[in-house]
Amino acid sequence: MTAVREPAAELDDTPQRSAPPFAVISGRQVQEALRGHEKQVTELVEATYRLHGAGDSVNPPSYFLRFPDRPSARIIALPASIGGQVRVDGLKWISSFPDNVAAGIPRASAVLILNDHDTGYPFACLEASVISATRTAASAALAADVLSRDRTRPTRVGFVGVGLIARYIHTFLAGTGWSFDEIGLHDLSPDSAAGFRGYLEQSDDAARITVHDTAEELIRSSDLIVFATVAGQPHIGDLSWFEHAPLVLHVSLRDLAPEILLASTNIVDDVEHCLKADTSPHLAEQLTGNRDFLQGTLDDVMAGRVTIPPHRPVVFSPFGLGVLDLAVGKYVYDQVLGSGEMHVVDEFFSELRRYG
Ligand SMILES: NC(=O)c1ccc[n+]([C@@H]2O[C@H](COP(=O)([O-])OP(=O)(O)OC[C@H]3O[C@@H](n4cnc5c(N)ncnc54)[C@H](O)[C@@H]3O)[C@@H](O)[C@H]2O)c1
Repeated sequence: MTAVREPAAELDDTPQRSAPPFAVISGRQVQEALRGHEKQVTELVEATYRLHGAGDSVNPPSYFLRFPDRPSARIIALPASIGGQVRVDGLKWISSFPDNVAAGIPRASAVLILNDHDTGYPFACLEASVISATRTAASAALAADVLSRDRTRPTRVGFVGVGLIARYIHTFLAGTGWSFDEIGLHDLSPDSAAGFRGYLEQSDDAARITVHDTAEELIRSSDLIVFATVAGQPHIGDLSWFEHAPLVLHVSLRDLAPEILLASTNIVDDVEHCLKADTSPHLAEQLTGNRDFLQGTLDDVMAGRVTIPPHRPVVFSPFGLGVLDLAVGKYVYDQVLGSGEMHVVDEFFSELRRYG
């Protein structure tokens, strides 16, 4: 891609800009840029939540494209803009087709477009299913740390729904210093349970692994619980299962009946985002007619504006913010640029002279 200047325009004082080169970054490059960087990415996600909390971001509601002929599928658009050091705009466009799993490919597929702050030009298209899973896992690991600071640190983790996201969350917990005595797992699919168990056995984790036949058994025997199912509506409603006051990372957002939330301390990533799309917090708002059950955001907890009581269940429901995808995407872009392996599409933008 060549820098472009219109000769006539050089006669006036208008600052000249060139169209940036356009790069394509593959999933393999994304994985190479992120592998082993769990701590750095979790710190980046923390900084991004702080920036978002301080208002240095634009993160409009996600747009859900749904299909009458494929009711379980959706494609979500997450446009966003982030300031601070990252200073980039963009869009994640992510499909969720749950039937893919039975056909042998992952549920989610995605691209992330990065737009230049000054010209608006898109300058990169990145494979983004890995970026999305990574920022989700980093957010979960951060929340596990922040929300357990004033409580006994969990030693027994349990995963309900053990697909790709659960695997990434486990990797990020391990990569940010967590170790557990026990790891429980529960999934409706025996294949998923066996696959996740196999992954755990190959990781360095020395924890005792138990596959639980019921969600009740898993919840009662875990003090950190991760929900990463594809449930569309609540399937967990018995308050007594939570009487040991666990910390719950409710990543799949729709597993818990609103009554569970009403008996818990509730923390979200962004209030407006999370109270939409029939998430459990949205159902709790509809049930009560107010938002009193919400204590605040993770940023509120990090900034000390909200404290977490020790003897109540805590539920973190992260809607998933486009600003996180942008921050992680720009991190990947910078890593790939630094490695000298950037694949630029020559003449991607080719109509650059206003009058030909
Ligand atoms: N909040 C966020 O930011 C965010 C980001 C990414 C993904 N997610 C969510 O994470 C979830 C998991 O994604 P994935 O890619 O791992 O999906 P996946 O299809 O790979 O795995 C989901 C697993 O959940 C199991 N499952 C479904 N219903 C269940 C139930 N009622 N009880 C126990 N197990 C059940 C399935 O058998 C499957 O093994 C999805 O709901 C996705 O939308 C959330």
